[in-house]
Amino acid sequence: MKENQLEELIGIMTLDEKIGMIHGNQLFQTKGIERLGIPPFISSDGPMGCRMDYKPASWQVIGQNYDYTSYLPSNTALAATWNPDISYETGKILGKEARGRGKDMILAPGINMMRTPLCGRSFEYMGEDPYLAAEMVVPLIQGIQENDIAACVKHFAVNSQETNRTTVNAIVDERTLQEIYFPAFKAAVQKGKAAAVMGAYNKLNGSYCCHNDYLLNEVLRKDWGFDGFVISDWGGVKDTVEAAFHGLDMEMSVTDNFDEYYMAAPLKKLVEEGKIPENIINDKVRNILRVMNRLNMLDGERKADSYNDTEDRIQLRKAAEESIVLLKNKQNILPLDEKKIKHILIVGDNGDRLHALGGGSAEIKALYEISPLLGMHMLLGGNVTIQYEPGYYTSVVGNVWDEGWQANSLEEDSAFWNREDSKNSERAEKNREYRQKALDAAKNADVVIYIGGLNHDYDVEGMDRRSLKLPYGQDTLILDLLSVRKDLIVVMMTGSPVDMSAWLDKTDTLVQTWYNGMEGGYALAEILFGKVNPSGKLPETFPMTLADTPACQSGISQDDKEIIYTEGVFIGYRHYDSNHIKPAFPFGFGLSYTDFSVTGGKSDWNRQKRHFR
Ligand code: BGC
Repeated sequence: MKENQLEELIGIMTLDEKIGMIHGNQLFQTKGIERLGIPPFISSDGPMGCRMDYKPASWQVIGQNYDYTSYLPSNTALAATWNPDISYETGKILGKEARGRGKDMILAPGINMMRTPLCGRSFEYMGEDPYLAAEMVVPLIQGIQENDIAACVKHFAVNSQETNRTTVNAIVDERTLQEIYFPAFKAAVQKGKAAAVMGAYNKLNGSYCCHNDYLLNEVLRKDWGFDGFVISDWGGVKDTVEAAFHGLDMEMSVTDNFDEYYMAAPLKKLVEEGKIPENIINDKVRNILRVMNRLNMLDGERKADSYNDTEDRIQLRKAAEESIVLLKNKQNILPLDEKKIKHILIVGDNGDRLHALGGGSAEIKALYEISPLLGMHMLLGGNVTIQYEPGYYTSVVGNVWDEGWQANSLEEDSAFWNREDSKNSERAEKNREYRQKALDAAKNADVVIYIGGLNHDYDVEGMDRRSLKLPYGQDTLILDLLSVRKDLIVVMMTGSPVDMSAWLDKTDTLVQTWYNGMEGGYALAEILFGKVNPSGKLPETFPMTLADTPACQSGISQDDKEIIYTEGVFIGYRHYDSNHIKPAFPFGFGLSYTDFSVTGGKSDWNRQKRHFR
């Protein structure tokens, strides 16, 4: 349909029909207008695949088996590849799967900057650097949108913490916004042509991001020329008049009182009373229709696509392989030689944990997920004994979330997530038992691989970590293991940096992996056994301790509900460089199994450069 024909459509719509299009009438869907051939608009989370389906008006999963889908490496993992082609190919799979599942929009990618490593949702984002995030998000969006599916970049803007996320007021100066927090969004909109932008829950400089005049009208529409639509985060709208005038196009929420949403009956009433001109509603409908038209939802041939295609698994494995970062290989213990090894011991809960179903709205009902233990078995076959000992006890039991957590998470802030200390005595007892077993086994194996780190009880929506320290007594366990096995291989599987200072000096071999999608465990095995040369580079600084991190002065707002970004542009490497703080591993760090040496002086180097050209 030609864009000017949209005007005719708007001209024959009733006010009720327009209002139906600009707010949810289900948890993930708005109303269509059947008589005009306008279908409902259906979204799904992102970013690690297309989320399982929920009932229309309650946070209960449908619970059938059709929504098992591909589970993608996290955005942090993608950023760690530093490879825009990987981003693009992964985007293609995400878009294709969302379309294959009958969706119109995938609520991804997430591109908030990592201001502090404590932020619970860092794993959903692309690290600490605006340039890297911009370079990686553009191809991701292009890949997604090739499939007649809208990408929705989130959360605009400065959603840097989960604690008090629905109330906190971030005070950020203009330069910092323009240089740090905006560039990835700007690139997403201008170069990636993202069809939609999701407003953040928090306030920016005093007004809620979902109806922040400066953010949405001035920056997004006027300065950047955005012509898609703005959707609220679920429950992020707080005021009808502001929502009407300040640039929000579609309101979504977590409750089932759809007619009472700010942009439903209350907005209609204000229009009928003449307090809000109907033109304002027309603008919102036009923005949504424009996107629907581009997705071929109004006429023309729309892609049907499919999901769980076999060849995509190879691509996701490649993404996972390229994301894994070799941090230390001092004695060249890696890569392991399978011919010389008969007995491997894997210690650590992440050695055999499945993560797909955790993290909050990023949860995925994965078609399958290869744990490192499974990956190692698959790679090595039957001649090697692989023993597994958890080594520490976690209370995470199969990542089963409380039904309704998403609605509750807005009500109770983060308090209800804090199950951390609930089983202290039980944990201590089990921890002792598990540790002893691991230590005993460590003495007899040819190789001991520790696979620990975090899980989605820590890298999670709605909650920030309080400390960078490893949970579950892992520091002690690693030290104990190192005392019996100097050649211990340590693998950290996390979505964000952890404090490794307790044992870092004593460790010769260290690998970083992420929540790395359905093929993640196999990719890790390939890296450890040298089937693939590691090439991942850190997309964020790994600090020594929390005290070294940027923003730890102003920190995460706990009760005052206002957070001043006093560090300004100095987040990430800018902070470490300018304050001469040596991190554990700098931004961009990552080794491979190849040795490089640069010989000669400057002139020699210049000659070599010419040669390479
Ligand atoms: C999250 C969004 C998500 C939405 C819908 C919110 O809790 O902040 O990222 O897309 O829920 O599930």
